[in-house]
Amino acid sequence: MNDTNYDTLLGKMAVEHGLCTDAELRRSTEEVKSRRKINPMLLVDLMIDLGYITNTQAERLKANIKTQKTVPHQIPGYKILGKLGAGAMAIVYKAQQLSLNRMVAIKVLPKRFSENPEYVERFYKEGQAAGKLNHNNIVQAIDVGEAGGYHYFVMEYVEGKTIHEDLAKNKVSSESQAIEIIIQVAHALAHAHACGLIHRDVKPKNIMINSAGVVKLADMGLARETTDIEAAQTEAGKAYGTPYYISPEQIRGEIDIDGRADIYGLGATFYHMVTGRVPFMADNPAEVMKKHLKEQLIPPDHINTSLSAGVSEVIEVMMAKRKQDRYNNVQELLIDLEAVRSGQLPLRAHKRFDISMLERLESGEPVEVEKNVYKEDTIAHYRIAILILSAVIVVSFLIIALMFVL
Ligand SMILES: Nc1ncnc2c1ncn2[C@@H]1O[C@H](COP(=O)(O)OP(=O)(O)O)[C@@H](O)[C@H]1O
Ligand SMILES: [Mg+2]
Repeated sequence: MNDTNYDTLLGKMAVEHGLCTDAELRRSTEEVKSRRKINPMLLVDLMIDLGYITNTQAERLKANIKTQKTVPHQIPGYKILGKLGAGAMAIVYKAQQLSLNRMVAIKVLPKRFSENPEYVERFYKEGQAAGKLNHNNIVQAIDVGEAGGYHYFVMEYVEGKTIHEDLAKNKVSSESQAIEIIIQVAHALAHAHACGLIHRDVKPKNIMINSAGVVKLADMGLARETTDIEAAQTEAGKAYGTPYYISPEQIRGEIDIDGRADIYGLGATFYHMVTGRVPFMADNPAEVMKKHLKEQLIPPDHINTSLSAGVSEVIEVMMAKRKQDRYNNVQELLIDLEAVRSGQLPLRAHKRFDISMLERLESGEPVEVEKNVYKEDTIAHYRIAILILSAVIVVSFLIIALMFVL
């Protein structure tokens, strides 16, 4: 690969991983071309100069290109057609499954995974569990295997985009659009949880929408590296992502992770979709994780005031720090999502707020009575009711007094 090709690939990867925008890449490419005669410089160096990417990110992208070049292009039974994308731990290729003559997506894991027998065991076990799932909103697992020392995961090919692509372009979904998408993911999760599978990595990059508008949850049953916290750190270390959607219990490295961790990840994704912001932002992954654990969430309707109090409350319950304060399961969440979709109040979210407050009062924990507990408009309604009641009492007294006088 010559310098220019290498440079172009690096620029493309920077956009793919959300490090800079399409427009920024275009601007940099034009600038490099216009400077070519007077002051020739590499695209990557200009992007660093302009502050679009950092030095460290450039180094990591370079290292990634190197490892990509070593990935096999031969998997028996499949013809690799091209690259679809790359994540923190793998590269995804578009391929043709020769036996059935259909398109598939193949995720190829780096070689270091094969060196960990514990991981390999989990990879096959979870792959088999995912193979048993069958749901229109889940990217179907097709096959798992090993070729030339690389483990791969074959799945349904989704022609479409990920939610992340829209978010990276700063697109904010309308409340109703977001609810439609989240409901479909919730159905996917309900099915997986019922079959005993927890996703553990629900995030915008794992939610795809195909050309017919059907939402597909990707990476279901794809075993992650060692613990969730290590997986998140690997991901953060690769400069592709910061743990914006990980649940507090996964950060704490708890082992008994259940469906409520997926509800948190979906809540954080929902939050990003309707506010245009990740729930907790900081300069580095460690700070983001600290905020998931400790910092109070800014209610979504404080950021986007056009949101209904109902949807905001649902998201806040999904993202409660203590899992016992979240929805107990996805079925409960679906009831509230469907209520909000039809313009009703999310009754289960209301109830959960009350229960968590009572529990904390009983355990002697301080309970802040703030907007999270009673929404501002509820308080306003109470105030109006008290005013009307006082006015009625005063008028009644006046009438009685007048009757006495007369
Ligand atoms: N089944 C699929 N069909 C089509 N494209 C896919 C599929 N799975 C993944 N991709 C693409 O490959 C990219 C990388 O996926 P992945 O390795 O899972 O990383 P991440 O989930 O962190 O983005 C995705 O962002 C998506 O664009
Ligand atoms: Mg993925």
